[in-house]
Amino acid sequence: MKEVGVGVAITGCGAAVPNAVLSNAQLSAVVETSDEWIQTRTGMRERHILAPGETLSSLATQAAAQALAMAGVAPESLDLLVLATSTPDDLFGSAGKIQLDLGATRAVAFDLTAACSGFVFGVVTAAQFLRTGQYQTAVVIGADALSRWVDWSDRATCVLFGDGAGAVVLQADEQQDRLLGFEICSDGKLNHTLTLPFEGESRPLLADLAVGVGGYQPITMNGREIYRFAAAKVPDVVSKALFRANLTADAVDWLILHQANQRIIDAVAQRLNIPPERVISNIAQYGNTSAASIPLALDGAVRSGKIQPGDVIATAGFGAGLSWGAAIFTWGRAQP
Ligand code: ACO
Repeated sequence: MKEVGVGVAITGCGAAVPNAVLSNAQLSAVVETSDEWIQTRTGMRERHILAPGETLSSLATQAAAQALAMAGVAPESLDLLVLATSTPDDLFGSAGKIQLDLGATRAVAFDLTAACSGFVFGVVTAAQFLRTGQYQTAVVIGADALSRWVDWSDRATCVLFGDGAGAVVLQADEQQDRLLGFEICSDGKLNHTLTLPFEGESRPLLADLAVGVGGYQPITMNGREIYRFAAAKVPDVVSKALFRANLTADAVDWLILHQANQRIIDAVAQRLNIPPERVISNIAQYGNTSAASIPLALDGAVRSGKIQPGDVIATAGFGAGLSWGAAIFTWGRAQP
């Protein structure tokens, strides 16, 4: 019988982005916009875009392989693989393909859809399996390719998104729970403010029976509503997760928010009284990569040596649903 895992440690991370880079200047040849507008309103300078024929699964596999290597975990010993994405290569789910390509032969693998909150929701979901002792090792991947789903003639949305993948390894830890606190939330009342909807046309099959046949339509977003929502809810949810962790904001070494807009990041950090030097941002290089943005930013900060084992990290995601959530954890296995 397996020993009951009392806690969770986050022991590895990885990331991958496509090679193709799309700058603000290049975007201004596509829609009526400017580098100045995009930088001032969002902080973004460029984003990486999946090329035709490239797959999200391959980026996700690379990110997961790096995370496993950092954690020193062999793919075949993995118990659980969660792919947080809204843009799988296959609507039936891409986790199975990643499981295969990774060689995670024992792992149960499934997709989880929670838009830009997907990574935080995925970490919280995986942690429950570890805390019950059911599983010992999990990988959570956040990966999205919203470039496939934006309307490239809509300047209000097409400038915002980039593609990428990031991953973390979670391991059961019998000494200590390093997932210190979390809070996840949903509110469908504003569901219509951010959508990537299915639309079908009625196709008669029989005299008295029709089916809806169609496809997914490009992203629609009410930017101002989402901005207001994020600025109000994210500080609140981070505070609640900190409360559950029995910590206050001054204990946070690094704040890693979903990279949707630099102005949102700054406003939330200010509300929480976390100084800019403790806030991680990679939005200038990658734009909004949806479920990938938090692990992509985490990976950059870990590999550059900014984040050290034992550091307290506060993360928060928010987006379509609407959904939002925060998780507080210490990085690695060192004592905080
Ligand atoms: N270039 C130039 N002008 C533009 C562009 C552009 N790319 N986009 C919009 N504009 C114009 C608008 O048409 C508008 O012009 P008008 O005043 O003549 O009507 C003007 O700029 C201001 O538009 P706003 O929408 O009010 O601009 P705002 O300052 O709100 O910035 C933005 C827009 C950046 C989208 C902001 O609202 C935002 O970041 N919102 C949050 C988005 C977000 O977080 N999304 C999360 C998605 S997560 C997920 O789940 C996928």
